[in-house]
Amino acid sequence: MEFSKRTNGLTSAIFAQLEQRKQEQLAKCRPIINFSIGTPDLPPADHIMNVLQEEVAKPGNYIYAIRDLPELTEAVINWYQRRFQVDLQPEEIIAMNGSQDGLSHIALAIADPGDLVFTPDPCYPIFSVGPQLAEAIIYPIPLLKENHYLMDLERIPAAIAQKAKLLIVSYPNNPVTAMAPYEFYEKLVWFAKKYDIIVVHDNAYCELVYDGQKCGSFLALPGAKEVGIEFNSLSKTYNMPGCRISFAMGNRRIIERFRNLKSHLDYGIFVPIQKAAIAALNGPQECVNRTVRAYASRRNLLIDGLAEIGWPIDKPPATMFVWAAIPPKYTSSVEFTFDLLEQAGVIVVPGSSFGERGEGFVRLALVQPEVEIRKAIRAIKDCGILT
Ligand SMILES: Cc1ncc(COP(=O)(O)O)c(C=O)c1O
Repeated sequence: MEFSKRTNGLTSAIFAQLEQRKQEQLAKCRPIINFSIGTPDLPPADHIMNVLQEEVAKPGNYIYAIRDLPELTEAVINWYQRRFQVDLQPEEIIAMNGSQDGLSHIALAIADPGDLVFTPDPCYPIFSVGPQLAEAIIYPIPLLKENHYLMDLERIPAAIAQKAKLLIVSYPNNPVTAMAPYEFYEKLVWFAKKYDIIVVHDNAYCELVYDGQKCGSFLALPGAKEVGIEFNSLSKTYNMPGCRISFAMGNRRIIERFRNLKSHLDYGIFVPIQKAAIAALNGPQECVNRTVRAYASRRNLLIDGLAEIGWPIDKPPATMFVWAAIPPKYTSSVEFTFDLLEQAGVIVVPGSSFGERGEGFVRLALVQPEVEIRKAIRAIKDCGILT
């Protein structure tokens, strides 16, 4: 059999190896504490699950949902107005079965084979895999600690920028956890206009922000809607990752083109999920604060505990992740990851799996309860990997 070149190399050898080593540890009955998965372990609020349950019981809800429910579009409009003071029109919004789905297809609507696409490095994988499936050429923009992990748009050579079709960007950022100031977004809009580049901003972590800070929307910038769109997902904000629903919104021409493409890819979102999303967006928002408090508390416990045992890590200002520089005796994040798994039973993701500039770091997801975080700190200390 022969398969397409575009799917060559889509599987990551590191994750397969990590899984194998995890299984080896489990076979030896060694306890494992898994910080590698980005799936929230916290439950959705009752009022969201109740609506889902009620709607699933209605036979009429099993139709193809070819168009988004108008009440859902209205809920998104109100949420963006309330939360970001961004005005949206119905034709500027499309719902989808999760941003992962949208990000895997958006480049098909924008880039032709051989077109240049800017992505961050390190990078949430689908940001580059999506354009690669469209046979575009990826031009990674480094996110460096010394530059507060911001894309340095001014350093991109003009000759390169002139060739680019699309720029994918996301703050608060997975995996590096950084937020971007207003001035960054001003530059982004200026850059996109100057070189006629479409911007796709992923705002998946807009609500998971700590220490009293607030995160905005790319679409709140003057001129943003002329150049791009924003993705936003209910997965992290409302702990609904398996209940697939998210939105893309902004420039109406991009949304129209994307809607047209998607009409061939899927038949919309299961109606009960749309109803649950309406309940989430319109309902009480205390559940979001609860989630933020839980992650903040886990973050503090993990960062303070690791600092005490000799692993100092910057406190993430946002997201559900910790981006940790590996101990100085290591030069490879993969080597450190494997040692940490074998010696402490703690699973993290090597930074290099997010791109070249992720080397030297590992990512931990704050998806374990505090009791497990305490156990992990003790196991890391006792195994002696830091000394
Ligand atoms: C930056 C980012 N965007 C999108 C997603 C996926 O979102 P969804 O569940 O809506 O597909 C994730 C999930 O981890 C993510 O980290």
